[in-house]
Order: sequence, then structure tokens, then C-alpha cells
Amino acid sequence: MKKKTRRSQETVGGTGHSVVLHDVRRVYGRGSNAVTALNGISIGFAPGTFTAVMGPSGSGKSTFLHCAAGLDRPTSGTVHIDGQSLADLNERRLTELRRERIGFVFQSFNLLPALTVWQNVCLPQELDGRRPNRTAVRDVLDRVGLGDRHKHRPGELSGGQQQRVAIARALVARPAVIFADEPTGALDTQTAADVLELLREPVRTQGQTVVMVTHDPVAASYADQVVFLADGVLAGSLTSPTAEEVADRMTHLGARALTTAGHAFSGVAR
Ligand SMILES: Nc1ncnc2c1ncn2[C@@H]1O[C@H](COP(=O)(O)OP(=O)(O)OP(=O)(O)O)[C@@H](O)[C@H]1O
Ligand SMILES: [Mg+2]
Repeated sequence: MKKKTRRSQETVGGTGHSVVLHDVRRVYGRGSNAVTALNGISIGFAPGTFTAVMGPSGSGKSTFLHCAAGLDRPTSGTVHIDGQSLADLNERRLTELRRERIGFVFQSFNLLPALTVWQNVCLPQELDGRRPNRTAVRDVLDRVGLGDRHKHRPGELSGGQQQRVAIARALVARPAVIFADEPTGALDTQTAADVLELLREPVRTQGQTVVMVTHDPVAASYADQVVFLADGVLAGSLTSPTAEEVADRMTHLGARALTTAGHAFSGVAR
């Protein structure tokens, strides 16, 4: 296990956080079809911290990441990035803020099939009217092990290779904040370890903020802290976690989720 530095946690909502969520709720649908994916989340992420978010499937992790990154608007509550309230921005300004300050690795990659690997990696900067630095693009593609595949299109790549393109795209402009949804889900152990190092390095060297959803306790152990989600609410955290501690906590969360599902089922059966 790699050595990690222990970082002090600042007060939620206090100054100095790059991302702050306050009492965020997100309800999908209406009436009897309504699903409360997030039910009052308050948390802050300081610059130079690497946080893993874990929880059972359906606990709200992707919704949480999308709301925190301004890809989705909460039903209520606030999100601030570098002190800027996202609710105060119109769609155009929000898009600009995302392109300038945020890198996002989607659970489903979201690559454009008609573009090459190189073009996919450069796209966010080009949309922002910036000229991508060719050396930086080459460097990040080399580091995710795709230096020789830059002319290929996503359809010519394996799932894990596509995931690495998505990671390269999020990293290349060195944004202040990176959100990554299961960035190692499709990778073998060694490639996953390389990618996790790639995510962790700028946290230490440049004070970047990384928030990563993962199901993998080993991946989570690369983070400074792990926060747990269950049924749309925060369900504890671990600082400087080991993979064993994370796995143990997840077992208990999983048991809780199953019990809840069991109650719901018996409710239906009655
Ligand atoms: N667009 C949507 N419309 C309706 N319900 C949704 C929508 N997106 C998510 N949900 C529901 O919100 C809840 C949280 O979903 P979310 O995708 O955030 O979970 P997750 O923790 O990321 O799960 P997984 O680990 O499977 O990716 C789930 O019950 C899901 O069915
Ligand atoms: Mg998800």
C-alpha cells in the first residue's frame, strides 16, 4: 500500500474549499414516480485533496457527482465552485465555468465516435476557444498508455482503452477540480494503479481537487478520505483509509441496503 499524507478537514461550507455542497437534494420525476436520489447532502472539498465516494448501486453517487460538477441542477440546496454559486449562472456561463475549471470522467466515457482519440482529448479546450498544448496532449496519452493509438476512433478501442481516453481528456488541461465516475471500472489492476497515480499526482504537486466515485476498495485507498453514501445521504467517512477498512465499511453499507430493499419488498408483498 502506498504511503499517504494525512490532511486536516476544514469545516463544511467554510472558506478555502474549491467545491461546497449545502443541503443538496435531487428528486427525479414527480408524484408517485418520484425518486429522491440525494436527500440533503452537505460537504466541502478543499484544494489539494483526493476524495473517494463509495456506496451501493443506486445510492446516488453519479447524481452527487453531476450536481457537484454543475452537469445537473439540484432540486434544492446550493453548490459553490471556487466561491461561485452555480445556481446564479445561466447555462452558457455554467458551461464556461465547467470548461475552465472542471474535468469530468463519465461513467459511460461519453467519447464522440466520429473523432479520433487525439481529437476527443482536445475537444473541451477547442470548444473553449483554446489551443491545446500538443506536448501536454502527447504526454497525457503516453501516460495512459495510448500514445500509439491517437489516430484511432473510440469504436476501434476496447472498453478500458476508451476509459483511458476519457481520463486523458479530463486531465489534459489541468483543471482545478476533477470529478471521476468509476474511472477504473473497466481497467485491469496494473492499468488501474497507473491511472490512480495519474489522478493523485496533481493533487500533491498542484493542489488539484479530485473527487472519484469507485466501487473498488483498493482504488479508494489511494484517496485521502473516503465518504460513504447510502440512500442519498452521507453515511460516514474514513480518513487515510486502507483497502481493508473500506471493504469492511462497504460490507455493512451493503447489508443495510439489502435490509432496506427487503423491507420494501415485504411492504409490496403484504
Ligand atoms: N434520470 C433519472 N431519472 C429517474 N431516476 C433516476 C435518474 N438517474 C438516476 N435515477 C435514480 O436515482 C438513484 C441514484 O442513481 P445514481 O445513478 O446516482 O446511483 P449510483 O450510486 O451512481 O449507482 P451505480 O453505482 O449503479 O452507478 C437511483 O435510484 C436511480 O434509479
Ligand atoms: Mg453511478
